[in-house]
Amino acid sequence: MAPRVLLTGGAGFIGSHTVIILLRAGYAITVVDNLVNSSLKSVERVREIAADEGIEGVDLDVEVVDMCDKAAFEKVFEKYGVGGFSAVIHFAGLKAVGESMALPLMYYENNLINTMNLLSLMEKFDCRRIVFSSSATVYGAATEMPITEETQTGAGITNAYGRTKYMIEGILSDFQKSKEKTEKPWSVTVLRYFNPVGAHPSGKIGEDPSGPPNNLMPYVSQVAVGRREFLSVFGNDYDTPDGTGVRDYIHVMDLATGHLSAITYMDKKPSVYSVFNLGTGNGYSVLNMVSAMEKASGKEIKYKIVDRRPGDIATCYADAERAKVEMGWEAKLGLDEMCRDLWAWQSANPNGFE
Ligand code: NAD
Ligand code: WQD
Repeated sequence: MAPRVLLTGGAGFIGSHTVIILLRAGYAITVVDNLVNSSLKSVERVREIAADEGIEGVDLDVEVVDMCDKAAFEKVFEKYGVGGFSAVIHFAGLKAVGESMALPLMYYENNLINTMNLLSLMEKFDCRRIVFSSSATVYGAATEMPITEETQTGAGITNAYGRTKYMIEGILSDFQKSKEKTEKPWSVTVLRYFNPVGAHPSGKIGEDPSGPPNNLMPYVSQVAVGRREFLSVFGNDYDTPDGTGVRDYIHVMDLATGHLSAITYMDKKPSVYSVFNLGTGNGYSVLNMVSAMEKASGKEIKYKIVDRRPGDIATCYADAERAKVEMGWEAKLGLDEMCRDLWAWQSANPNGFE
């Protein structure tokens, strides 16, 4: 029987792409999602893609459950019994930086309680391997580039969302340590994503923000498709080659593959707490991204320079060597593929999954 992996938040942007990668690799999958920031359409599309790709024996169970409701969540574990999940990938969480400052309690409650419920149910049902979706945001206001996993975390985090990631990393580390010398050790892999963009090359799934996008590339692609008039570029007076912010954009399919690497890495390491940056190691400016998207879409992308966005840093890119050396993972897709696939998604679905 194929090993079964539980994907919390598996109907969302990164989760849905990871489902494809795991199905290709022959895993059975259970998705738990309360659809607070996603819809079942993504799962329908994932099934279409699996059929298009000729993936055989697809075993994809989807449970619409709020993980903060522990009794309801426990039923999912009961369905598969003790030892029913070989690993968990924990994507589920709220992620809008601005909203987290307006509604910090909602963010702390959702992101921390869902994690606590997950860990206690994993313990009860004897699943001892977890991959956690963390973020480069835990490095706060780091100034030395590239950022390695040893770069200080916690200092200079400017928002509640980022602090939930930092806190969850601490919880996972304490918990893993408490199990090290027991007969039932845990493996924990923390993946710190840089800036995920792009979509599955079919254009059938992608990022579908509700309301005006907070992140650069969803905004740029909505301008390209005519849904928004122009992009506001948040400052052109940073200490960067063209004055606009520089980030490490990573194709979501590469990112998804990183989760498969983490699962196979833990197969060989029954007791480990590991942290990996998932990025490309390359930095591109806002204006670089606008030009790349103009090239991919053949559309003009109008923009206006406006004030800096509070909390933004000038430059952020990863040293991604550790993931390469220890997990054998590296990003393979470049800016052209990121923009090509984002455009495939946005042009075929101008209003997202609606
Ligand atoms: P997303 O919002 O598309 O996916 C998250 C999913 O979690 C959604 O489908 C949502 O409905 C679900 N969810 C939230 N709270 C839940 C709960 N209590 N119970 C059940 N389901 C719940 O976001 P994404 O971009 O796919 O991000 C996935 C993870 O990666 C998140 O933890 C996010 O913080 C992290 N991350 C994302 C980025 C990024 O830029 N996209 C960068 C770094 C880290
Ligand atoms: C990228 C660049 C902006 C929008 C955020 C979160 C981080 C992580 C990823 C989850 C910056 C500029 C943006 C716009 C712009 N998420 N920009 N106009 O800020 O690196 O990271 O998403 O973990 O936690 O903070 O990504 O896409 O918002 O911005 O000029 O309309 O684009 O100033 O330089 P960021 P982003």
